[in-house]
Amino acid sequence: MKKILTIALIFTLLAVLMPAALVSAQGGGEDYVVQGDDWLSKLADKFYGNPNAYWAIMQATNEANGQDPSYAKITNPDTIEVGDKLFIPSTDEAETFMADFDPAMFNPGELFASGESGQLVVGSWWTAGGEAEGLAGMLNIYKEMYPDVELVNATVAGGAGTNFKAQLATRLVGGSPPDTFQLHAGLEVETYSPEQFLQPVDDIYASEGLEEAFPSDLLTLLTYKDHYWGVPANIHRSNVLWYNQAVFEENGLTPPANFEEFQQVAETLQAAGIQPFVMGTKDGWEAAHVFEDVLAGTLGADAYRGLWTGQTDWTGPEVTQALENFKMMLSYANEDHPALTWDGAGEYLISGNGGMMIMGDWTDGWFTSKGFDGYGWAPSPGTGGTFVALSDSFALPKDAPDPENAANWLKVVGSKEGQEAFNPQKGSICARTDCDPALFNEYLQSAMVDWSQDAIVPSMVHGAAAIESWLTDYKDVITLFVASGDVAAAQNGLQQACVDAGVCQ
Ligand code: GAL
Repeated sequence: MKKILTIALIFTLLAVLMPAALVSAQGGGEDYVVQGDDWLSKLADKFYGNPNAYWAIMQATNEANGQDPSYAKITNPDTIEVGDKLFIPSTDEAETFMADFDPAMFNPGELFASGESGQLVVGSWWTAGGEAEGLAGMLNIYKEMYPDVELVNATVAGGAGTNFKAQLATRLVGGSPPDTFQLHAGLEVETYSPEQFLQPVDDIYASEGLEEAFPSDLLTLLTYKDHYWGVPANIHRSNVLWYNQAVFEENGLTPPANFEEFQQVAETLQAAGIQPFVMGTKDGWEAAHVFEDVLAGTLGADAYRGLWTGQTDWTGPEVTQALENFKMMLSYANEDHPALTWDGAGEYLISGNGGMMIMGDWTDGWFTSKGFDGYGWAPSPGTGGTFVALSDSFALPKDAPDPENAANWLKVVGSKEGQEAFNPQKGSICARTDCDPALFNEYLQSAMVDWSQDAIVPSMVHGAAAIESWLTDYKDVITLFVASGDVAAAQNGLQQACVDAGVCQ
């Protein structure tokens, strides 16, 4: 009897240990139970120092699930739930997996469920707090309406789409796109050769009455070669200065309205031992983002707009002044900025070790997702009355595996219900004009007012103002400038970028 019990015990133990043992036989790894504010890319960052390696955790967990259903099945990387059991492969295993893994070419069935039709694969780069929750809110609405469709949330981490856009382009050209993907309203669409690879969505505008739902300026921004190529979910503002309210109060400060005041505030913060200005520049776009707001704040709305149409001279004294202003600001910035992403830099504000940060209003969604409400906001220096705008839309690839599911998604994206589920969490305001302001926090309500009365100018870094190749050159110039501080070289570079884009002589 004892012997039988012992054998049974051994079998039970084996059954429990087997899945982990099977996977770890390939080289270690560990189980992990999802905690309150975990998401996959954050865990990948924590375990491997590489947020993109979340694919390896998904793959290993899904593989373990195949052997032991107590492991989670991850069909949606952004909605792992508290209590889910994951398998975290060892660093070696994760690296080996990532070395062979090309998300651009991946077949969703490889990591997610295997169905070919009946899926909706949504491509985006929304993995940070706030972004992920907002998207999940909209996906949930879709799920309620179309419960039989399997949702695949195909994200590629990296703010502003730094990693996502290149991978998407490869997939479009390779004929294996997601069903729908995130696309900034404006000239970004040109990157994807829309006439060749995308499906115009004019019919959805007609059936859903979207021309009546969105403001006319936005409709103009969305039009390319006489067609609509995406349905917008939101309006974001680029030019926001975020600050730690308690730090400002303790030091008797008010948010700076111009560059002179910025310097005074920065001096006071520095004397108080607080990092005056925080940035993250890890993904290569964040400094360029700050600089577009410095350009708008130095040149004013009209001249800023002219930079992207060839009407304002990149070689003139105002651009020199903008670079000087930016250089002054950089002299107050955290030294560890090359190691931080935009949200990593935001931690300085949450902890009260940093005073000010300039970043788009997805930061409002991020603060909220972190449970932090001690932040204040103001237009970035010099931009009172100017709204540097961008909009996230979703597009429909010509080769979408399931165009009907994708079209239904675009209808949800454009709907009042979808936008009200998405925007309060995302930190953006609705693209539609009929959302209920009571659903939005104080910052977003102030953004709605500004959107209705400010001078609206397009964001460069987020696809509205210019074609992608110009953006790439512009970002490179600013990255060099952050390292060198060479104003003349940067100004030449910016002019050359405009020439190469075919806009300047
Ligand atoms: C922008 C995008 C926003 C937000 C941000 C940071 O390009 O429009 O929705 O995601 O990047 O990732």
